Amino acid sequence: MDSYSLGYANIALVKYWGKKSKDPVLPFNPNISLRLDNLLSKTKIEPSLTDEDEFYINDEKQSQEEVEKITKFIAKFTPVEREKICIKSYNTVPTAAGLSSSSSGTMALVLACNEYFKLNKTAEELVEISKEGSGSSCRSFYRLAAWLEDGSVEELSCDLDFGMMVLVVNEDRKKISSRIAMERCVQTSTTFDAWVEKAKEDFVAMKIALENADFEKIGAITEENALAMHATTTTSTPSFTFLTDESYRAMEIVKTLRKKGYRCYFTMDAGPNVKVLYLKEDQEKIYEEISKLWQKKIILCME
Ligand code: DP6
Repeated sequence: MDSYSLGYANIALVKYWGKKSKDPVLPFNPNISLRLDNLLSKTKIEPSLTDEDEFYINDEKQSQEEVEKITKFIAKFTPVEREKICIKSYNTVPTAAGLSSSSSGTMALVLACNEYFKLNKTAEELVEISKEGSGSSCRSFYRLAAWLEDGSVEELSCDLDFGMMVLVVNEDRKKISSRIAMERCVQTSTTFDAWVEKAKEDFVAMKIALENADFEKIGAITEENALAMHATTTTSTPSFTFLTDESYRAMEIVKTLRKKGYRCYFTMDAGPNVKVLYLKEDQEKIYEEISKLWQKKIILCME
């Protein structure tokens, strides 16, 4: 069968940064994301033509380490006795560059397994499984999702139409995975507890702002929350950062535009790229202004 399963990226407005428990995966703080429907992964599974499991991303054969990581994950919910498989995945998102390819990739993989192994899991079960592969992927099943500390995932609603663009600083694979990075922050950051407290407050405030369709508030919390998350990396030992001089320049551009009256806000994840949140109705004029100041690549995203 030649059909692909689709998984979507999501970008957190209130970040998940730190696991309270690894099995099951539970976040330290409740978090909220927006799904981006044009940043996606498509995956299909076929019987392997060799006597090994194989894994390709964008037609590139992945290392044995990556194959082991993925087979360990799918062993949690697929039959113990199974034939060797070949997993073929394509990302429209640069892989592992902090553009949420792990959430889209994990969602697509879980759906592809459900299809290939005829698991007949319910939507709720698929959300649960997905989280064990990559925590944030459980949010990709909903347009606006809240992932709570008890592990449950809720769909939120908001009457606004959002848009996001990515100011691409660097599309390379990140040097440190979000998994390792957040673990280091949990264990060593001197500001980790403060981060969790702040994120809990941001979560409550963000829910209200979404309900009230208060874009200014949504944007302000999004920015503050991203900065608070990134601060935990610099207060870790050894200290590190995902952000580069170019990331800071991109943030300044967003602030400059805002001073000029454009409604836009930034957020960053486990990589140097800066995402800009705005209202869909403002997309054209914001794109026009930003592209005067940012000559590097810009990816337009649609929710
Ligand atoms: C910075 O979901 O990639 O993007 O659960 O270890 O796979 P694992 O981590 P992952 O972390 C995402 C971190 C983040 C913030 C967010 O999306 O909430």
